[in-house]
Amino acid sequence: MKILVTGGAGFIGSNFIHFFLRRYPDDTVINLDALTYAGNLENLREWRDDKRYRFVKGDIGDMALVDLLVAECDAIVHFAAESHVDRSILGPEAFVRTNVFGTFTLLEAARKYGKRFHHVSTDEVFGSLGRDEPAFDETTPYDPRSPYSASKASSDHLVRAYFHTYGLPVTISNCSNNYGPYHFPEKLIPLAITNLLEGKKVPVYGDGRQIRDWLFVPDHCQAIDLVLRQGRIGETYCVGGNGERENIWIVEKLLRLLGKDESSIEYVTDRPGHDRRYAIDFAKIRTELGWEPSVSLEEGLQETVAWFQANREWWQRVKSGTYQEYSLKQYGK
Ligand code: NAD
Ligand code: DAU
Repeated sequence: MKILVTGGAGFIGSNFIHFFLRRYPDDTVINLDALTYAGNLENLREWRDDKRYRFVKGDIGDMALVDLLVAECDAIVHFAAESHVDRSILGPEAFVRTNVFGTFTLLEAARKYGKRFHHVSTDEVFGSLGRDEPAFDETTPYDPRSPYSASKASSDHLVRAYFHTYGLPVTISNCSNNYGPYHFPEKLIPLAITNLLEGKKVPVYGDGRQIRDWLFVPDHCQAIDLVLRQGRIGETYCVGGNGERENIWIVEKLLRLLGKDESSIEYVTDRPGHDRRYAIDFAKIRTELGWEPSVSLEEGLQETVAWFQANREWWQRVKSGTYQEYSLKQYGK
């Protein structure tokens, strides 16, 4: 199988390419990525000279380029997006352009050539849960509340519309918060780990009692692969990590893993419209496809801390803003 991965130089996309090329020695990947601030070719350095991997720098909104690439692949796994909620509050335009128009562009090409399309989406489309409400599942109505989640919800609706209207062979996965290697240090877990390694404080929004359901990124990659190969066409699968915790629990756990104390916490102004709780019921993917998370949150956090300790140069380049020039020069053939 030859797949077109969009956004493969980002956090989850690069983890997925590693997973895919290691697991399927006869399969090939084209990685289409615009290399926004979140794209880093260093994430994929080991594949640079591998014949099964090709990087194409470009925008998913570029219809002519997308047409050429979709024509030559068997399936599209669509990760490319503006992904950070805080940035969507400061400037929503890029979110609409990439997440909505970019997805539309890919869908048009997939429709033209009748290609299999898997769309990677988020639990944020379902809105915010109260403490005692049941977790989100595939039947939960959409209620997005940030420009980011609204743009992802729009893209999900477009993907479903292409299934119902044109019969395009699509699947969607809506997952919870990922964490692990190559996580960009603007998000809570990698920001906390790298700040603590630098002797800085961790900013905690509001009272820190918001809840997220943490999913170790290799488990997510396995779920996407299963849905791509065995998922029922036209269906959505919710993917969660069995890792519901308050943010402050996560931060305190990282303090302990890194030998720091509470003086390294700094409570800061809350995010506007901050969703209080996300949680995923993943019974459908467990029952239909036999998937469940393989790693506990405690194990995943230990592994993640160890990865950031061992890859100090990677995140120091990212935090100092020198990573793109460096990675293009080293790995951008
Ligand atoms: P990321 O921000 O780390 O990476 C996004 C990648 O997309 C980058 O490499 C970037 O260069 C590329 N990109 C952005 N705009 C592009 C464009 N117009 N054309 C081509 N490439 C472009 O994101 P991530 O955290 O890896 O998330 C990947 C996908 O998973 C996104 O669709 C996101 O909504 C979804 N998701 C993420 C999480 C999470 O916890 N990170 C959870 C649920 C869903
Ligand atoms: O739920 C899935 C979503 O998870 C994905 O769709 C998004 O792409 C991804 O970015 C992530 O969104 P969140 O907003 O939940 O992730 P973030 O790491 O930004 O924040 C996690 C929680 O931690 C959230 O409640 C806000 C809080 N936070 C975040 C940062 C960056 C802090 O308290 N301090 C911080 O500095």
